[in-house]
Amino acid sequence: MPTDPATDSAPLPILLLNGPNLNTLGVREPDIYGTDTLADVVDLAERTAAELGFGLRAAQTNHEGEMIDWIHEARGAVCGIVINPAGWTHTSVALADALLIPEVPIMEVHLSNVHKREAFRQHSYISPNASGIIVGYGIRGYEFAIRRLAELVG
Ligand code: DQA
Repeated sequence: MPTDPATDSAPLPILLLNGPNLNTLGVREPDIYGTDTLADVVDLAERTAAELGFGLRAAQTNHEGEMIDWIHEARGAVCGIVINPAGWTHTSVALADALLIPEVPIMEVHLSNVHKREAFRQHSYISPNASGIIVGYGIRGYEFAIRRLAELVG
């Protein structure tokens, strides 16, 4: 398990990233995305990470450059990344490239089953750079992603 050089024993934290529009979870298309909020997602992720002995850093942005900066800063600072890239999944080569920079396992999460939806949602620029992909489990997908990440880095 990669450890924090500052303490030389605690594992590096997991980074949870959520992309555009996910700050509106709970009110946005609840028939597709459910009624849980982003705060519920972060709470579930924090509890799951803590149960497995990991800290968690969580952030959401609607600005692609800000997301890319955070991913650059994650190099050497986190043990893995759980990301719901939202709409950038289907558009962003830049985000896919950035996710290679930290050299840690990446778990891609989608609340909805994107394969059951519009054709444009069925291609992901992120998936070729992901260690695992979880789609269609609602917010429990984040829990599964953290459990798998802990297995991969543990
Ligand atoms: C999403 C699926 C994407 O196609 C969409 O643009 C989102 C959310 C999901 O979690 O199901 O914003 O990533």
